[in-house]
Amino acid sequence: MDFSKDVIRYDEQAILCLRTLYSSHGYAPFRMSRFDEYGLYAENRAFLSSGEIITFTGAGGKLMALRPDVTLSIVKHTIDDGELKKLYYNENVYRPESGEFKEQMQVGLECIGEIDANLQGEVLMLAKKSLGEFSSQSRLDVSHMGFLSGLLSAAELNSSQSTELLRSISEKNLPEIYALCSQYGLSDNYQEKLAQLAMLYGSYNDTIETLRQISIGEETDAALDELEEVFGVIRTLDAECDINLDFTIVNDLSYYSGIIFQGYIEGVPKKVLSGGRYDELLRKFGKKAGAIGFAVYLDLIEQQSIQYGKGESDSHVASNEIINIALPKGRLGDDAYEILESAGYACPDMDEDSRKLVFENLENNVRYFWVKPSDVSIYVERGVADIGIVGKDILLEYSSDVYELSDLGIGICRICVAAEKGYTESRERTLRVATKFPNIARDYYDRFGREIDIIALNGSIELAPLLGLSDVIVDIVETGTTLAENNLEATAKIADISARLISNKASYKFKHDAIIKLCDRIGK
Ligand code: PRP
Repeated sequence: MDFSKDVIRYDEQAILCLRTLYSSHGYAPFRMSRFDEYGLYAENRAFLSSGEIITFTGAGGKLMALRPDVTLSIVKHTIDDGELKKLYYNENVYRPESGEFKEQMQVGLECIGEIDANLQGEVLMLAKKSLGEFSSQSRLDVSHMGFLSGLLSAAELNSSQSTELLRSISEKNLPEIYALCSQYGLSDNYQEKLAQLAMLYGSYNDTIETLRQISIGEETDAALDELEEVFGVIRTLDAECDINLDFTIVNDLSYYSGIIFQGYIEGVPKKVLSGGRYDELLRKFGKKAGAIGFAVYLDLIEQQSIQYGKGESDSHVASNEIINIALPKGRLGDDAYEILESAGYACPDMDEDSRKLVFENLENNVRYFWVKPSDVSIYVERGVADIGIVGKDILLEYSSDVYELSDLGIGICRICVAAEKGYTESRERTLRVATKFPNIARDYYDRFGREIDIIALNGSIELAPLLGLSDVIVDIVETGTTLAENNLEATAKIADISARLISNKASYKFKHDAIIKLCDRIGK
């Protein structure tokens, strides 16, 4: 039966193409129920992208859940009989997104059994081909948890130190990598290795020499040997298949042991494919087999209205050279623009006394947007701006999924707890905390197990304790004048704050040369 492309919907075409691709390589379809026992997901919360799950009571009073993840169900229902299983699926998952649960469509594949280099090469090649079904401009980036864990175990860190360092590597956050390494007493040589690793991005041939220099012992050497073998397989399967190495891709060490990877297509600001080797998950189910797989997030691709098969998005800026920059309105933005102007990114129209919000100078390949300071990270995370300048307070508050490329050394202040002079805290009752930063405040008091009642305000926070609305405040202190003039004092510092240059992760990959050039010119 032949179907016209006008009759088949976009998602149906995509699913058909991917199913054809996977079945032509010996993968069999796997069907499963939309729900499973809640316990399956509750016991493996760290494996899920979010701990929030839709539950309901099933027949017999059992707590059930609408499936937030496909891999867990496949692993649970696959028999561990020593046979290699090559499966593909096309299923919906139910996950929270922007505060609401969404039904998301995924197509993916899983291999469960003995996983060798040939199979890993095949899976990576199929991941890259899957991206190619949507766009001629795609990136598949590979990391290796064995390499990262080998580097961290050489430093003999505890698990929370390892988590912090992994996070700073995943953000390309060099100032934080150096600060954490000094705090943990790690050598200069080790710090340099981590910094080099965080900034490394490129083809296998362009990066392997540096990785060999960074390697620190048997575990890291073994990870690189495995990558060498797998990339050798990929070259024989498809000489044109270009895949990059990027060790800012990190995942939970208790589930992922080997190769992990992410895929991007031009015009979509977030990863549209994610996968990896998850043997440790099988161990948790008492299974001996190894496993590797990936999922393609069809909704994300569709949302961007990429014309199927053409690989171009209507909304995307034509040239890969133009950098879109979100600047925070106000003094911080003016100071940041001065830095960019002296680095060669001037835009003479910016000097106009106008209320325009978008300015561009195509000679310098730059376009600026003036946005509300607290919105900068949203514009960057969503890819409307490639880079932005934002206070560290906003990054801490919103946990934005962006690269933090440099500390510009401006907008220096601190985020503090403050109270009326002479105030003494009573542990007898819940502490009332007024703030513009509810997440920062909650994280801070969680560290001490202190119960608090957050009073979320939008400004003039100092008023709250004066009028008895709160006991303390969590707020920005710059000169200390506002506190002093209102008979308040800082009682604890939560974090030092300064302005950071951040980048959208997809932009960093597709506009790599232009963004690296900008960072070099800024020189921070
Ligand atoms: C910030 C902050 C403090 C003040 C601290 O307020 O929330 O109120 O600056 O600065 P200082 O230590 O130099 O006195 P902002 O000016 O942003 O206004 P807001 O209170 O309305 O948020």
